Amino acid sequence: MIIHIVHGVNLDRLGVRQNEFYGSHTLEERIPILTGWLNKNWPNVELRSFQSNLEGEVVNYLNDNDEPENAFLINPGAFTHSSLAIADSVAGLKAFVLEVHLSHTYAREAYRCRSLLASYTCGTISGLGWDGYRLGIEALIGLQDRN
Ligand code: DQA
Repeated sequence: MIIHIVHGVNLDRLGVRQNEFYGSHTLEERIPILTGWLNKNWPNVELRSFQSNLEGEVVNYLNDNDEPENAFLINPGAFTHSSLAIADSVAGLKAFVLEVHLSHTYAREAYRCRSLLASYTCGTISGLGWDGYRLGIEALIGLQDRN
């Protein structure tokens, strides 16, 4: 099984931008930590990471890597609230998709309370920082095991 961690717009700026919401760690720091934890606990599961600030590149990545035995953990950033294109892509995927946000989007501005893709995912984790990614990965492995 491959778990694709997909990050959208501005998430290449983690560690620099709005630390009060997103913490001080960069993607480059956190992905290897998640990979190490995953390898220790599920050596047969592979983690792949993708980030883009371009909506169409996120759509291409999802569509090109869609296999029913794999899964996506996606944090689309602001695309969550704006991208019908990513929502349409997610709606058509065969793989399990779980949405994750570092910050507690439901406790922030009203426009962050709406996710265009949420109804096409198997769930959302919001506000738990990087712990949400570990929980999300665990949930996706569980869903795939029961499938
Ligand atoms: C975010 C929440 C979004 O509302 C915001 O636009 C982001 C990051 C999060 O991880 O908390 O860029 O997805």
